[in-house]
Amino acid sequence: MAKGLDVGTMNLISAQQDGNDTVFVQQRNSFVEIEYSDMAERMLSRSDVLHIRKDEDVYVLGDDALNFANIFNQETRRPMSQGILSSDEQSAIPMMKLIIEQVVGSPDHPNEKLYFSSPADPIDSDLSTLYHQKTIQSFLNDMGYDAEPINEGMAVIYSDLADNNFTGLGISFGAGMTNVCLSYYAVPVMKFSVARGGDWIDEQASTATGKPVDKVTSIKEGDFELDFETDVGGVEGALSIYYENLLDYVIGKIQEEVDEEDIEEGLDVPVVVTGGTSSPKGFKKLFEQHLEDASIPFSISEVQHADEPMYSVARGSLVAARSEEEETGHSGSEEAEEEEEVEADD
Ligand SMILES: Nc1ncnc2c1ncn2[C@@H]1O[C@H](COP(=O)(O)OP(=O)(O)OP(=O)(O)O)[C@@H](O)[C@H]1O
Ligand SMILES: [Mg+2]
Repeated sequence: MAKGLDVGTMNLISAQQDGNDTVFVQQRNSFVEIEYSDMAERMLSRSDVLHIRKDEDVYVLGDDALNFANIFNQETRRPMSQGILSSDEQSAIPMMKLIIEQVVGSPDHPNEKLYFSSPADPIDSDLSTLYHQKTIQSFLNDMGYDAEPINEGMAVIYSDLADNNFTGLGISFGAGMTNVCLSYYAVPVMKFSVARGGDWIDEQASTATGKPVDKVTSIKEGDFELDFETDVGGVEGALSIYYENLLDYVIGKIQEEVDEEDIEEGLDVPVVVTGGTSSPKGFKKLFEQHLEDASIPFSISEVQHADEPMYSVARGSLVAARSEEEETGHSGSEEAEEEEEVEADD
């Protein structure tokens, strides 16, 4: 067996194979700190709420954090910002460790292969992904996995461009970042990220309209559509404006980053757009329209929108882990059996 893990600014999602199906487990990458009380105790004991107690405080993690935050009138906190561990959040590492443990579970056998997504270094900020990547890798290894990072854009290619010989442009529009990767027969020829995504859209639209960010996010994730007829002056109008701005920004950066010397003459490839931020109806059409106005030094055969935009990166990470396992010809289970034998001898 092998596993994939999408380590995202907003969502942590694992993928594993069960027969012909891929099974995903998902949690919000978020937590809330509440004071311990009888009411908290009752709420926590009622269900399988992911939490830990530390003296007089309780931390509720993952999907339930938001409910508890509303009830106890607290703000949720996020361990990651702009694609990597947040330096402003003291509790980032222990909190993420707990959520990840819940999402991936224990390895099926020692040194089970696991690929986790990691962003490319952003070209528009000083942030470095190295510390983030090494930290996540070390706690997955401590759990007993053989963990390797996979570039987030490359994971999109593995997930959604298998039918095209893993050739094309993959773009993951996430919460903290947008990751771009151009791959030619499974070899990345260009990869980069920009430190803008859904969070950036929310913050800009919130500043423009004076509405709280959480309110803007819930409108955006509700029935908001990019239909070009949205109300000018309202939150939806502001969201549309910043969506268009993000697309122009990303397409502009692709133009800048492509090195024509790396591009085969006559290259004609599909583009896959995915990630939570690509969810609203009309996104693909808007992307196509903005792409038409750009001058990219290779031709685009078509724009595809991933079937399940939230799951592309986790699925692609799983594809990479499984193919690595096949290539090396052992799943680690032999080692596991040997270890068991040694233990039995003792
Ligand atoms: N239905 C929806 N409509 C619009 N936006 C959505 C929808 N569902 C989720 N989103 C947005 O998608 C983003 C989360 O997407 P995703 O899970 O791909 O990001 P992530 O992988 O956690 O972040 P990153 O890759 O940047 O680290 C958030 O900004 C969220 O508000
Ligand atoms: Mg992501």
